[in-house]
Amino acid sequence: MDKLIIKGGKKLKGDVTVSGSKNASLPIFVATLLAPGINQISNVPFLRDINTTIKVLESLGGSVEGNGNIVRIDTSTINSHEATYDLVKTMRASVLVLGPLLARFGKARVSLPGGCAIGARPINLHLKGLQALGAEITLEHGYVEAKCRRLKGARINFDVSTVGGTEHLMMAAATAKGETLLENAAREPEIVDLALYLNRMGAKIEGAGTDTIRIQGVSELSAANYEVMPDRIEAGTFMIAAAMTGGDIRIHNMKLEHLDALAFKMQDAGVEITTRDGVVRVKGPRRVKSVNIKTRPYPGFPTDMQAQFMAMMCVADGASVISENIFENRFMHVSELQRFGADITVEGNTATVKGVKKLSGAPVMATDLRASASLILAGLASEGTTEVTRIYHLDRGYESIEKKFAALGADIQRVKE
Ligand code: EPZ
Repeated sequence: MDKLIIKGGKKLKGDVTVSGSKNASLPIFVATLLAPGINQISNVPFLRDINTTIKVLESLGGSVEGNGNIVRIDTSTINSHEATYDLVKTMRASVLVLGPLLARFGKARVSLPGGCAIGARPINLHLKGLQALGAEITLEHGYVEAKCRRLKGARINFDVSTVGGTEHLMMAAATAKGETLLENAAREPEIVDLALYLNRMGAKIEGAGTDTIRIQGVSELSAANYEVMPDRIEAGTFMIAAAMTGGDIRIHNMKLEHLDALAFKMQDAGVEITTRDGVVRVKGPRRVKSVNIKTRPYPGFPTDMQAQFMAMMCVADGASVISENIFENRFMHVSELQRFGADITVEGNTATVKGVKKLSGAPVMATDLRASASLILAGLASEGTTEVTRIYHLDRGYESIEKKFAALGADIQRVKE
């Protein structure tokens, strides 16, 4: 197992380029199942979760060339409608193959994903939506079995805004008979990217990015090529790194408009954020000011940036109140941040962070993907040396992050444990 060794205190300077979006790539890879043919997907990040998705497609009979930047996916040889537990348990997003397999073959058998570190993460709304489209769903032995000769368009209203649920039903409805309306749909940019790809395949989807998505079912789709959007969470992580080290960096290949809520809060904290010719410059103040945040579905403050923002508030001037409203257990980074000397108290879904002048480097352990990013950020801003173990969590969602930080002047290296 690898670990990261960080010698903190360096102000980050220079240029960094953001990789393609993990959370846009995953559903786009799954959507290739909807039609036979060869799809060339570009700007794909080299990540563990991408490799897992490729394994899922190959286990279904697909053939895949490459695992990043450019990936060629041939789905003309798909010959199975079953995704097994050993694959789905490593990455819960693979449950999204259920809808496309059902739409293409009239049946599907996919392992229930189970929970994960940050919460129970049920898929009841996915299944309820598929049933509304006419699927016969049974749950047994930890698997979902779905059957339906041809899905039929329906009007679906989500109880809560669900990114995966919206993506799942957009894919299933693309070739259903008639019109489907998704109301109270999630509005994340990754959903817009998936809709753009599906329309490139011949789907008729309108309204992605708003809370009402209208899908006219078509009889068949065809393979298509696509360039994935930049990863807005990786971009946000670099923005915070610059802010909390008093650095001055330029971030290439990111869309600032995907991070309005984060940018406004960072500006409230005294961080300078400017854009010129599509490059975003982030300049940290001597010390950031404390700011309160509440995580919300897009375009609200993203839950995937909560841990990183909390790391920044640990060195802010003042106290900040952070409430996590999306997942029930997304404060596991708190106890690790406290090892750096952070002053954080948690009451239910609310954490109060009292900024300290300086954090001190410490040995810490990653618990989930975004929490591991917050530990790196704290290490970069600390006095002394930090060791981060269990960084396989990190490799799920950040492409060579230590190389990117080192190129910005951080003293960080990956060593074999
Ligand atoms: C996606 O997860 C992202 N993952 C998550 O990113 C992100 O944190 C999350 O959206 C919220 O933005 C991918 O895109 C692969 P949800 P997803 O369905 O789709 C409840 C990362 O770090 N819910 O929007 O699983 C659920 O429990 C990951 O990259 C139901 O109750 O999230 C949660 O409280 C972490 N029933 C809320 O909705 C359902 O059927 C939002 O979940 C579905 C969801």
